[in-house]
Amino acid sequence: MNGIKIDYNNMMSGAIGSKQGMPASAFNTDKALIASARDKVLSSRGKGWQEWTELPFIDKEEVDRIMLHGKRLRHQFASFVIFGIGGSALGPLAVATALLHLRHNELRPNSRKGPRFYVEDNVDPERMAALLDVIDPADTLFNVITKSGETGETLSQMLIALDILHKALGDKAKENIIVTTTVGKGTLYNIAVERGYGIYGIGKGVGGRFSVLSPVGLLPFATLGINLKKLLRGAEHMSKTCQKVGVRSNPALIAAYLQYYSMREGKNISVMMPYADSLKYMADFYCQLWGESLGKAVNNAGKRVYAGQTPVRALGVTDQHSQIQLYTEGPFDKVVTFIGVQNFRAEVKIPEVPGIKGAEFLQNHTLGELINAEREATAFALTRAKRPNFTILLDEVSEFNVGQLLMLMMYQTAFCGAMLNIDAYNQPGVEEGKLATFAMLGRPGYEKKLAEIKAAFHKDKFIIE
Ligand code: PA5
Repeated sequence: MNGIKIDYNNMMSGAIGSKQGMPASAFNTDKALIASARDKVLSSRGKGWQEWTELPFIDKEEVDRIMLHGKRLRHQFASFVIFGIGGSALGPLAVATALLHLRHNELRPNSRKGPRFYVEDNVDPERMAALLDVIDPADTLFNVITKSGETGETLSQMLIALDILHKALGDKAKENIIVTTTVGKGTLYNIAVERGYGIYGIGKGVGGRFSVLSPVGLLPFATLGINLKKLLRGAEHMSKTCQKVGVRSNPALIAAYLQYYSMREGKNISVMMPYADSLKYMADFYCQLWGESLGKAVNNAGKRVYAGQTPVRALGVTDQHSQIQLYTEGPFDKVVTFIGVQNFRAEVKIPEVPGIKGAEFLQNHTLGELINAEREATAFALTRAKRPNFTILLDEVSEFNVGQLLMLMMYQTAFCGAMLNIDAYNQPGVEEGKLATFAMLGRPGYEKKLAEIKAAFHKDKFIIE
């Protein structure tokens, strides 16, 4: 592979024993299952809900157009705010955090690659009030992102933006709003057309959590000065690597199978632990993909299976001092995936300070050496305690590698969904909550749902006040 490698030695029985580890023979035993999962995903590339597989191959002229638009917005606005939730927020947040300066918003404008960047994926009133305290609506671009065009949280945020923009700018307000949604359908689309807002489309067969390489991510990335071409080239490269036939040369297929095997052996928790602050939200991106795609009550044959593996995000080294004790000595129910970075983009040397005793062993090492030593030490400790773990190692955090990582995680999810024989692209559990919210807020047409909710919430026996 190019820039990324996966070390899965510590998943195998040779490293952690036959009770917890996977025998190499498993690849052979499950050969048919692995091949059929691969074929199932790859034979429907670009079809149905698998349009995401083709996003890296987007027409180059379209990329140029988005880059040009982004460049214009970059010079026009001081702040770029995303209003969106779930798949409409986590991909942009993960990529921007990986590729921008880690204190992007605090840098002076001429040292930043683009406007200040905010991803608002909650409706906490204090958070909204705080945002409004630090931005000037007149020089803020609001990118309202919702695939369905119906999500209550995002529509509320949009109404708030419209209100403050109209107060600040009157009829010119529409220049400060761009919506990214499904073209031709949904409340947001209708509003945007009526009001004349700029619209970017999300392909019909691109689901929220698989949409990061659509305009959902591409417009903000272009505005923030992220090199789209390199990002897409990385995604394209990984996409091709994920077509490989042999499980041991196909990174997403092997990552999917390692997790699938572990799930079958009762390891129901998947911990994603990057050892780099820049990749912190990649863990969130993974957790959404893994949780929402694989957590399903019924399989494709209609049988109740209650499938899934609970994703947990952790950050190295921070969470070594909070969670690793549990992972090393608690129940044998987890698989830990580390993401490591060989070369950090900035390096800090631990200096020699004359006269300081006891800390000499740290002196003259770099923080990069320290964080990587800690990652390897943690992998060693887990392995010694017979806990399965594997490492995705990036040579650096670059546009190319981030593009690869996104595609790796999406393909891994799709392959694992096929191994589990579930529909990785629906989310009935999420939809139910959305509909209940509509009902509780009095949306016309949801009266029956409201009655159902009221009937379910009449219990008052088990409350302590
Ligand atoms: O992955 C998904 O489909 C969901 O997480 C959605 O992204 C999330 O519920 C938001 O939906 P929408 O983009 O329609 O507002």
